[in-house]
Amino acid sequence: MSTEPDRNVGLELLRATEAAALAAARWVGRGHKEAGDQAAVDAMRLMLGTVEMDGVIVIGEGEKDRAPMLYNGERVGNGRGPATDVAVDPVEGTNLLAKGLPNSIAIVGLAPHGAMRDFGPSFYMDKIVVGPESVGQVDLDAPVAANLTAVAKAKGVRVEEITVVILDRPRNADKIAGVRDASARVRLISDGDVAPALMTALPGTGIDIVLGIGGTPEGVITACAMHGLGGEIQARPAPQSDRERERVLAHGIDLDARLTHHELVAGEDLFFAATGITQGDFLQGVSYTSDGAITHSLVTRSRSGTWRVIESHHRWEKLVPMSAVPYRQPH
Ligand code: FBP
Repeated sequence: MSTEPDRNVGLELLRATEAAALAAARWVGRGHKEAGDQAAVDAMRLMLGTVEMDGVIVIGEGEKDRAPMLYNGERVGNGRGPATDVAVDPVEGTNLLAKGLPNSIAIVGLAPHGAMRDFGPSFYMDKIVVGPESVGQVDLDAPVAANLTAVAKAKGVRVEEITVVILDRPRNADKIAGVRDASARVRLISDGDVAPALMTALPGTGIDIVLGIGGTPEGVITACAMHGLGGEIQARPAPQSDRERERVLAHGIDLDARLTHHELVAGEDLFFAATGITQGDFLQGVSYTSDGAITHSLVTRSRSGTWRVIESHHRWEKLVPMSAVPYRQPH
């Protein structure tokens, strides 16, 4: 490995997630999740265009016909740098944004071209996510109680002291019951399983495991982050309808394979950036000052294993894309 310091593109991605968060924050609690998402998409796309890379969106807003921008297959970046695969989620937790609930975040993940697995028509994945102490100790296919015992042992605490986050959906009822039967704590969430996944790998958050079936794009994005944070995700596509199953199989996806974050996103040099939109448990949301706004972000890089939490102070009159993307609250 070279000892020369090189570029940390994560710090450039940060500007894209900050722009998305600033744009989306105008829509907090206003009940319009599409409008908030569109504002974030516009802002993120504008800033991604400044990043020196020849990027292609692998995890995006969906198929071209349905997503006017940041669609899967769209080229992003200024076209001059290295070839990259890009995962975007300009608003992770659109319902959280629309309702003003905690933990909606703007996200970008980046990998060398060809490193990010394309799950095509897969909407849902079964997942288990843990932090660094528990890497190698859990198994997606093991009973819930066995995984809780393993994590408790790895952390040197009792199972009763373990907190598990699960999306509150009927499809996850068995996992919820399994955690309760084992006397661990459950935090049920209405949306947004990426923020708690990050929290499993960050110190002092009080979140130990994320379990259950959630979105496939969110699983791939979580994998980008786990490379940098030193945690682990295991996942398997889990179609929730016959149509999804047929399409996933036709796409050549093996429904039996248990995938680690190395198989979800491969490569040695992966980047991840996230900025809080609504107030969060670990990333504060966008807050306003008399002349601008403050954002809080997380940036990770897998090669160095460095992660940074960055507070940025933005001044309205100095924000370059102000004319293209309005950041102030609409009246
Ligand atoms: P959006 O940001 O697209 O609204 O997705 C939020 C989310 O809650 C994800 O965090 C989660 O993985 C997925 O949706 C769960 O899907 P569903 O709401 O269909 O159960």
